[in-house]
Amino acid sequence: MAILLDSASLDDASAAAGLGFVRGITTNPALMARETKDPLAHLARLLEALPEGPVFYQPTRSDAGEMDAEARAAVALAPERVVAKLPATLEALTLATQLRRDGVRCALTAVYSPAQALLAHEAGCAWIIPYVDRAARHSAGAVVVEQAAVLEQLDSPTRILAASLKSGPQVAEAVLDGAHDVTAPLAVLRALAGHPLTESAVRAFAAHWE
Ligand code: G3P
Repeated sequence: MAILLDSASLDDASAAAGLGFVRGITTNPALMARETKDPLAHLARLLEALPEGPVFYQPTRSDAGEMDAEARAAVALAPERVVAKLPATLEALTLATQLRRDGVRCALTAVYSPAQALLAHEAGCAWIIPYVDRAARHSAGAVVVEQAAVLEQLDSPTRILAASLKSGPQVAEAVLDGAHDVTAPLAVLRALAGHPLTESAVRAFAAHWE
């Protein structure tokens, strides 16, 4: 089980490093576009801001050849840490197969169907990344449960990294549904610790010493 930060912000990455329990970062082109015009240089800075654990990099280009070159350039920055994150399209699955053969760890992202999970397994992807809240908003079914069932049936080493998580309960539910790892924005990661009864217990403890 690993908890990751879903952000490309350097401030978020530094804050996540300070939390101690955050084991990596996921980025995507939309998150990168908010922070930089030079995503590969920015990736290098993210690797420094959170000095341990995987950093998932999704190429900004969608043409297969350009995606390939950008993914390999990203991985070359830190081959032990950078994971090539690719959208769950046919072209990207073919690319994932080639990258995997060359020893690059790949994650297939925006995975919504059990069939996509099956193909990710066949392509040798190390992770699939279902978008939980987006699936709920579009009535796309119990994505984590369905994908976990397929991977279990195949006795697959492919891990489920649940993303698009908006609250603590949604994070916990994704794990109960079968996610091995989760990624969420910094505010959601901080909110994992929150519970009104914990807060009232802490106030009561403090009151004994006032
Ligand atoms: O990493 C995927 C994630 O950023 C998607 O989340 O909140 O845009 O649905 P969201």
